[in-house]
Amino acid sequence: MQTNVDDIHRQIEQYAVTSKEELEQYRQRFIGRKGVVTELFESLKTVAPEDRRAVGQQLNGLKTRAQERFDEFTQLLDEQPDSSPAPVDLTLPTAPSLTGTQHPLTIVRQRIIQIFERIGFTVADGPEIDSDWYNFGALNFPLNHPARDMQDTFFVQKNSNEASPDDMVLRTHTSNVQIRLMEQQRNADTFRPIRAIMPGRVYRNETISARAHCMFHQVEGIYIDRNVGFKDLKDTLYHFVKEMFEPGTRIRFRPSYFPFTEPSAEIDISCQICGGKGCNICKHSGWVEIAGSGMVDPQVLLNCGIDPEAFTGFAFGMGIERITQLKYRVNDLRLYTENDVRFLNQF
Ligand code: DAH
Repeated sequence: MQTNVDDIHRQIEQYAVTSKEELEQYRQRFIGRKGVVTELFESLKTVAPEDRRAVGQQLNGLKTRAQERFDEFTQLLDEQPDSSPAPVDLTLPTAPSLTGTQHPLTIVRQRIIQIFERIGFTVADGPEIDSDWYNFGALNFPLNHPARDMQDTFFVQKNSNEASPDDMVLRTHTSNVQIRLMEQQRNADTFRPIRAIMPGRVYRNETISARAHCMFHQVEGIYIDRNVGFKDLKDTLYHFVKEMFEPGTRIRFRPSYFPFTEPSAEIDISCQICGGKGCNICKHSGWVEIAGSGMVDPQVLLNCGIDPEAFTGFAFGMGIERITQLKYRVNDLRLYTENDVRFLNQF
């Protein structure tokens, strides 16, 4: 018993704690209800009655000392700087989160859709990787047409040196969706008029610069029914220009050529930047081109299984970047894809 008491005294004196966890370990080991001092008090029963008083006093001394050391340690820890993190105030408001803005191309695409939906056009979608047939062949591009040149078109799969309807390309325009829409009529019992616009991404093998990009966006439109005439095309595009651009914007149709329309016209509007007086955006002509258009070539209708004697239609296509440039005066195409927030935050 004596050696035990001395030993524990020594342990207590030599003990050191550096954290609350260690203090708790000390407490459990020496002064807790299952600690060594309590144990010794319990074994007092086994001590001879005449020695009990003396041993009891010794144990009381041990107990007091163990408690004193505990108090010393506690004080020491209290004086140390607290390294635990400051308590979190859960009632504080959070830091405001930044909301993004819409990309200018998204804003303009949505506006174009809205304008055409109001006059009865639906929105159609189609694949960005498509066959030569849908991108060129069905649209009446002759086999040797220069647009098929690898300099202009990205081929995903080319079967031979000759053009083949099975070659796969990144579509160079959204006109492939026209073909897919018209083709759906092939097996229909009765012809259902087609009146749709097709916004989407297109690809061309161009070196990226302020004025050209290998990826950009178009919106194509098509209307096929009985008795659709050139006047309907003009009315539709007049309406679009009136809704989209500044009041007083003038519009003109210029004869042009596309393999898939006959007759074809390009559509110019008076320059939004200089109001038609002439500036470097309109190359001092006062006019800027915004779209290509025309009456769908009878051969294209035939290619899609539609009877050109019974049905006619018009089509048009425009670049969303071009419209956005005119609306927001963005003069470098690269800005649209660089994701510079200083640019994007302005919309
Ligand atoms: N596909 C033409 C292009 O990418 C644009 C175009 C012109 C589409 C006339 C049409 C159209 O539907 O009728 O330049």
